[in-house]
Amino acid sequence: MPWRYNLQCFNCRSQYSTRFTGYHCEKCGGLLEVKFEVSPRRIPWKNRPLAVWKYRELLPIDNERFVTTLAEGGTGLHHCKRLGRELGLKNLYVKNEGENPTGSFKDRGMTVALSKARELRKQRVACASTGNTSASLAAYSARAGLECIVFIPKGKIAAGKMLQVLIHGARIVEVDGDFDQAMEMVVNLTERRKAFYLMNSVNPFRLEGQKTLAFEVHDQLSGKTPDSVVLPVGNGGNISAIWKGFNELQQLGIAKARPRMIGIQAEKAAPIAMAVKNKQDKIQPVKNPQTLATAIRIGSPVNWTKVLCAIRQSNGTALTVADKEILNAQQSLASKEGIFVEPASAASVAGLKRSLDAGLVDKGDLVVCVTTGHGLKDPSIAEHLPRPKSYNLKITDPDWLDRLERQL
Ligand code: F0G
Repeated sequence: MPWRYNLQCFNCRSQYSTRFTGYHCEKCGGLLEVKFEVSPRRIPWKNRPLAVWKYRELLPIDNERFVTTLAEGGTGLHHCKRLGRELGLKNLYVKNEGENPTGSFKDRGMTVALSKARELRKQRVACASTGNTSASLAAYSARAGLECIVFIPKGKIAAGKMLQVLIHGARIVEVDGDFDQAMEMVVNLTERRKAFYLMNSVNPFRLEGQKTLAFEVHDQLSGKTPDSVVLPVGNGGNISAIWKGFNELQQLGIAKARPRMIGIQAEKAAPIAMAVKNKQDKIQPVKNPQTLATAIRIGSPVNWTKVLCAIRQSNGTALTVADKEILNAQQSLASKEGIFVEPASAASVAGLKRSLDAGLVDKGDLVVCVTTGHGLKDPSIAEHLPRPKSYNLKITDPDWLDRLERQL
């Protein structure tokens, strides 16, 4: 059984029943969040294996029999010494979320959100997506036996993600437009047809699963708190959820400090970074956002209020990176550390480099970069890599070995 929790408006703090299935406050329109009663107490999960459900007392599922899982979480926190040396950082870690069952961090949220959907007796689930949310939702709804419909911007999602949605048998609505429009459409659908439960990151239960990344990092660093956590930002669900996780650790009395949250966006899809740079307390949506990191090609992030709050409270910041820097970071991480991530994820490493250059991160800091999705999701990146050299050899050529040796 979880510890006591309720639903609360992030903005005006109005309270809602935990069976409330809306996504916004009925009084002020603010985003909702799950509030656990967290105070210092004995931690029951110490000896359990690393996984999302290790922390089940802090996950809002009342009845274990609804839990839908594919063994999510427990991803590696890799000390990256070679890449760190290149950047001048001794303590660089990569939390590689591509190691999740469908290859992205979304699985942390989906296992909880799907379990909640079943607990609330929902039979149909829906989302809009730049790819990973739909891949994850398609898999978890297949696992739970629920009907799934996904709205995706036509021609704008990576091939691997599209394949995942197809193979898991979701119904696909290809939208002639971008992600922000797909999002508007799915919100309209779920408002009109209450039978569809919306699984985007405005769903407060989903974000509870995603906060477990903070708990895992804390455990993997044996209780140390990173100085900075650097991660890509699209809709802003993940940065808000992870910040919430670090806050709960502090409220529990098991972490003394909290990290700075540094959000990274692509140059031409950067409403959050722009608001931070211009010291505005509201974002200005970006029309027609562009980047080859299709996962974060988002102009109107639905969680912007939570993101700006996380950045302000953590004394963090948000920065932009160019597509070229993203590609370079992707190759560095793959070739120096053996970690292959998709472009959006590499934005965290590119952003870390920028933060170091700008003096925003100290060389002595303990830094965790969150890489959010697996590199195999987006094979189109191959065209940006050098072609392999052709040796043109056959085993039937008598001199093939001599010819090869001359070229080695
Ligand atoms: N990285 C990857 C690989 C993503 O797929 C996403 C979001 C993000 C980062 C940004 O996370 O939205 O919580 O700030 N992908 C969503 C999707 C939008 O539909 O798959 P966020």
